Amino acid sequence: MKKYFVTSALPYANGDIHIGHLVEYIQTDIWVRLQKMRGNKVVYVCADDAHGTPIMLKAERENLTPEELINLMHIRHKEDFASFHIEFDNYYTTHSKENEILSSKVYFHLKDAGLIEKKIIEQFFDEEKKMFLPDRYIIGICPKCNSPDQYGDSCEKCGATYSPTDLIRPKSALTGNTPIKKRTSHYFFKLSSQRCFDFLNNYVNSTDTLQEEARNKIKEWLKKDEQGLSLLADWDISRDSPYFGFKIPDDENKYFYVWLDAPIGYYASLMNWCTSQKKDVNEYIGKETDVELVHFIGKDILYFHALFWPAMLHFSNYRTPSAIYAHGFLTINGKKMSKSRGTFITARAYLEKNIGAEFLRYYFASKLNGSMEDLDMNMSEFVHKVNGDLVGKFINIQSRCSGFLLKYFDGDVLSRDVIVNMNSFNSDLEEKIERVAEHIKDAYNKRNTSKAVKEIMGLVDQVNNFIQENKPWETSKNIANISVEEMNALHCVLSLAIRCFGKLSILLKPIIPATCDKIERELFCQGNEFLWEDIYELKIDKIKKTSHLINRISEKDVASLVEGCK
Ligand code: 2FM
Ligand code: ZN
Repeated sequence: MKKYFVTSALPYANGDIHIGHLVEYIQTDIWVRLQKMRGNKVVYVCADDAHGTPIMLKAERENLTPEELINLMHIRHKEDFASFHIEFDNYYTTHSKENEILSSKVYFHLKDAGLIEKKIIEQFFDEEKKMFLPDRYIIGICPKCNSPDQYGDSCEKCGATYSPTDLIRPKSALTGNTPIKKRTSHYFFKLSSQRCFDFLNNYVNSTDTLQEEARNKIKEWLKKDEQGLSLLADWDISRDSPYFGFKIPDDENKYFYVWLDAPIGYYASLMNWCTSQKKDVNEYIGKETDVELVHFIGKDILYFHALFWPAMLHFSNYRTPSAIYAHGFLTINGKKMSKSRGTFITARAYLEKNIGAEFLRYYFASKLNGSMEDLDMNMSEFVHKVNGDLVGKFINIQSRCSGFLLKYFDGDVLSRDVIVNMNSFNSDLEEKIERVAEHIKDAYNKRNTSKAVKEIMGLVDQVNNFIQENKPWETSKNIANISVEEMNALHCVLSLAIRCFGKLSILLKPIIPATCDKIERELFCQGNEFLWEDIYELKIDKIKKTSHLINRISEKDVASLVEGCK
């Protein structure tokens, strides 16, 4: 048995969950469900990322306090995740007592280790708003290509990165005023130190669970200059007032930058769960723990998770991540999600169209392969895949068999032994499913769900072919006149097909858990949930009539989804 502490990135508390976010939560949830079904011990936590300037300003615009805003968002986020069957063991917030305590603990550890330095810097200041402006709140002309309306950190037109003070004719995005340059002191984490460099170099080479593409990226960041000095810059971990966040404990008017306390929020959420479960948190995060720490993230935040975060943990005496799994971005019909194209689809907008949440899970699963490549949601492929695979093929097995089983055999399902003894059709379908299940488990483990889906659908096809070859509907047409042997053979065909359906639903359960749960409870009358091992020892002796399992989706609904978001 393995033990895992798993996280997905913490969504900001200033906006709704959209389907781009869902790629990651669905990917993580599938992986976690697979581990749990196999009997591994997993605690899967997440939280709202509640601090920072955008949240503070949004609350101000909406005439709310930041606390009021993040509380409202917390409820919405939890509802959205539950609707998509994302089953966290704990969903918390970074604006918590636990996180405040842990953040200052980490800070003092780093300070004691000599890795915190206070430096004077010069920043843009909006005199009307009386605040220092984050890079994204300064707009001006790109110093490289002269494009207007570019942000203070990078140009969307030519891709150049620079500092806000390099912008030509900079303006505050808040007031439109020209900001002034002002000196201020900030705290820095000395990422440029030799100690950090040596640790990270060792970390990236010894962690075998990094994707190769991620490792190469990190190695690039860890390159040295001609003098053999680290190219990593020190990391600015403080912000001036006004700011919504935690006060730095040994300073008057400075706050921790949101990205300092955000990943610590993983630990705070775990801590909060440990308290409720009466568990010792050190069993999970102490240096000697046997629990693996697995982060699922988007490729855009690899820098934070693979550099800052392991270094912070290491130098404050906590365990470092065992695995960091990054995924690519979601595009819609080949393009970036965009409000004007109507492809910025929130979880809520999707659900309002009554397109089943599990369909999106299935579609994403059928596209994800464990790499950092972007993933395209093609709307017509989405409709065809869901209708074709789930309704047309998978549920079709049950629709073709359960009616006859109920009508002619009172729902009794013959056992595997009886089927083998009476086997007039000589099928090794069950054995085949068991063999392929090993590969499917492997694919799930590697987050290569597209391979898992392909393998499962291959098996679904074989079961459908078996039914097609044995044509139970032909025998049933003439049921009053058939011999006992023919009746038994019919019972065998239907029992084998429905047993295979049970096994296939176990294989699909990490992806479409609610439907498979319904299949277990309603069709197979199970009190306990099927586990992965049940594929090999499936115990079902009866089926009952179920309510409708899955509806087809229409192209029209999907089209209105895209239209409706404009
Ligand atoms: O990029 C984001 O959306 C961040 N809110 C992710 C934070 S993940 C973690 F480190 F807290
Ligand atoms: Zn430019």
